[in-house]
Amino acid sequence: MRLIQVCALCAWLFMSLLSDASSDCDFPAIFNFGDSNSDTGGLSAAFGQAGPPHGESFFHHPAGRYCDGRLVIDFIAERLGLPYLNAFLDSVGSNFSHGANFATAGSTVRPQNTTLRQTGGFSPFSLDVQFNQFSDFQRRSQTFRNKGGLYAALLPKAVDFSRALYTFDIGQNDLTAGYFHNMSTDQVKAYVPDILAQFKNVVEYAYDHGGRSFWIHNTGPVGCLPYILDLHPEKTTRMDRAGCAAPYNEVAQYFNRQLKAAVLQLREELPLAAITYVDVYSVKYSLISQAKKHGFMEPLRACCGHGGKYNYNKNIGCGGKVKIHGKEVLVGKPCKDPSVWVNWDGVHYTQAANKWVFEQIVGGSFSDPPIPLNKACHGLHH
Ligand SMILES: *[C@@H]1O[C@H](CO)[C@@H](O)[C@H](O)[C@H]1NC(C)=O
Ligand SMILES: *[C@@H]1O[C@H](CO)[C@@H](O)[C@H](O)[C@H]1NC(C)=O
Ligand SMILES: *[C@@H]1O[C@H](CO)[C@@H](O)[C@H](O)[C@H]1NC(C)=O
Repeated sequence: MRLIQVCALCAWLFMSLLSDASSDCDFPAIFNFGDSNSDTGGLSAAFGQAGPPHGESFFHHPAGRYCDGRLVIDFIAERLGLPYLNAFLDSVGSNFSHGANFATAGSTVRPQNTTLRQTGGFSPFSLDVQFNQFSDFQRRSQTFRNKGGLYAALLPKAVDFSRALYTFDIGQNDLTAGYFHNMSTDQVKAYVPDILAQFKNVVEYAYDHGGRSFWIHNTGPVGCLPYILDLHPEKTTRMDRAGCAAPYNEVAQYFNRQLKAAVLQLREELPLAAITYVDVYSVKYSLISQAKKHGFMEPLRACCGHGGKYNYNKNIGCGGKVKIHGKEVLVGKPCKDPSVWVNWDGVHYTQAANKWVFEQIVGGSFSDPPIPLNKACHGLHH
């Protein structure tokens, strides 16, 4: 090849790389898998509404979310110009034309051997079940879409399954499950590889079903949540400098290191996949450990709850009521201004915290590779 041709080729390659990197993915849909961090109505549909005051700051009524308003997945949908995701399990009034949400509060990657009504209260909709639901949704949505009319207006196009963003935020409950069964930290660590093997399987299945763009959140500092702090008196648990239960956070970080390794393996096994790993842990830990600096207060106390050091009581949850002299009295009350609180109900973050977390991660500064949300197809779409 002559020099001039080589240069032209270089310039063309450079330009096409540049244009790929600079154009948005225009994701037509989101398919989400996860736990309460991204549940927009799944558990509520199956086991009863998360009652008031959930939803009060934004929806002004309960909206299937364990939060006073929007979750990180809602801010993701907003930023991509898509409607909020309906829960797959919400059979009335749902519009799935731009995706579906398979997450439910209390979900784990590994199916649990105890039900929602027993220890810990884990959801029966573990990640394998969520994938089966997705698979069925994909098949049936096309059968019905072909009938046209209203079906076509409520269900995604076949091509959208490969152009969609597949989002995952799950694992936290797998870690707490062991502790709720009185396991030691070493025993919990021992089953982390099995969680990740099962997680990897589901990403591979989604790829086999046409999924290409994956946005994977790591797990947060669970040892900073009031429901965990309330479980263990400080005398018996090692606390870190932020006042969080250190063993829980160490297990979460151990899980995250292995999740990142699993993502690297997936990239090798799935050559056409664009997989973004998002370090939500660091963002949430920074918010909690430096709350004041970020404009928040009382990061270890629940905004909505009742009593104790952490304003959390597992028997009187957010919105909980008791009857006194025949009158219902609200015991699990919300704080005056949830917009400056980090924690909502002892287990979940406030809308304000979710928004803050979203703003940190959307630009790619906490991602591997460091690419913003709207480019998470890594140039694959063009
Ligand atoms: C549930 O029980 C089965 C059979 O004993 C076991 O293989 C599996 O690991 C258990 N699952 C969990 C999450 O403990
Ligand atoms: C479903 O949502 C999409 C996007 O918001 C909208 O364009 C479409 O009209 C909705 N379908 C129906 C039947 O309301
Ligand atoms: C864990 O230990 C506590 C305290 O000894 C006990 O009350 C509880 O039943 C145990 N839980 C399980 C699942 O074994």
